[in-house]
Amino acid sequence: MGNILIKNIKSLAGILEGNAAPLRGEQLGKLEVLENAYLAIEDGRIADYGKMEDLAGITNWTDLEVIDAEGKFVLPAFCDSHTHLVFAATREGEFVDRINGLTYEEIGKKGGGILNSARRLAEMPEEELVASALKRLDLVKSQGTGAIEIKSGYGLSVEAELKMLRVIRTLKQKSDLTIKATFLGAHAFPPAYKENKDAYVDLVINEMLPQIQKENLADYIDVFCERNYFSPEQLERILQAGLEFDLLPKIHVNQFSILGGVGIGVKYGAISVDHLEELDENDIIELDRSNTIATALPGCSFFLGIPYAPVRTMLNNNLAVALASDYNPGSTPSGNMQFVNSLACIQMKLTPEEALNATTINGAYAMELAQELGSITRGKKANIIITKEMPSLHYLPYSFGENKVERVILFK
Ligand code: NIG
Ligand code: FE
Repeated sequence: MGNILIKNIKSLAGILEGNAAPLRGEQLGKLEVLENAYLAIEDGRIADYGKMEDLAGITNWTDLEVIDAEGKFVLPAFCDSHTHLVFAATREGEFVDRINGLTYEEIGKKGGGILNSARRLAEMPEEELVASALKRLDLVKSQGTGAIEIKSGYGLSVEAELKMLRVIRTLKQKSDLTIKATFLGAHAFPPAYKENKDAYVDLVINEMLPQIQKENLADYIDVFCERNYFSPEQLERILQAGLEFDLLPKIHVNQFSILGGVGIGVKYGAISVDHLEELDENDIIELDRSNTIATALPGCSFFLGIPYAPVRTMLNNNLAVALASDYNPGSTPSGNMQFVNSLACIQMKLTPEEALNATTINGAYAMELAQELGSITRGKKANIIITKEMPSLHYLPYSFGENKVERVILFK
């Protein structure tokens, strides 16, 4: 089981040996490829790769599946480090409201948005949430994703936040994708706490976090730090409490406004700070001095018509940048990482090589999975994409909207 030889690969892309940290600045544009290659997988791990002419000595394996990849590319599967993939219902109504002139923020203020999703999620039994999320996982796998982070945050009560996190735990068991769970109890204030927001922060810290630790339900902690949502002071309180429960931050900051959340994330050792559609020089200085990854979500900018995170500026300042989908029913109803690659190239002016590294190895770092995933590296898990026949690697982001993934091979 798990012994596969892929031969005649047109190009094996994303080879990376001896790497120990997220790719920063101009390193992001360096993507190693091998033309006319083979890839040998033994017990689910990358045993070897090389030029076809050097292929020898591994045909005596038992149970060896041989795949001919003539004309095709082999790449590391995408590592999508920011999603809200568990939800009860889609929100096309708000989509049409926005077409008719309301903004995303206005819809949220009127009790739609995240609160809309929370009302629907409260009603839905755990098994149904699992079933619908598994379908979405199958969909994103068919589009090339092999590892994914999933947040809670449509619960907003002790009971419903725990329900969401238990759903994610079940997904970890049932799906062949590698999954990380993030606790996002601080995603919005439930209506009952409108006049006493700090009491909701107390609930997150004193009621939710201890129970989450008891059941070991989360890998990270997140807060939506934004005007009309959680203030920098509230962010700091929650991150401090998170650390006491051994949860490192991966946070929502700077989507619409700059409140200082980036610096607070860095101070608490955030694995990543995400969104960053708005960014100032101070934020860049904070990130430059840190190991925190700057994660941009171009699908959200596309769907909401808001600015794109200034990723070129980030790279010019030598930051470590990852790209993720933000898959959720309100701001980004797509988890398609091929489309994320296209948007990164078309709208953010990344090269195809930069986009691919930002959605594979740096995405893996943004989930602390880079020891095992995110590149073609001997000894890593062989979580890979075999593409359809393509003329070049650049065709991948160029041909937006077309599914170039023929097969995804995943091991856990
Ligand atoms: O990352 N901005 C906060 N959270 C999500 C959207 C949540 C929603 O609209 O349901 C985001 O864009
Ligand atoms: Fe998000």
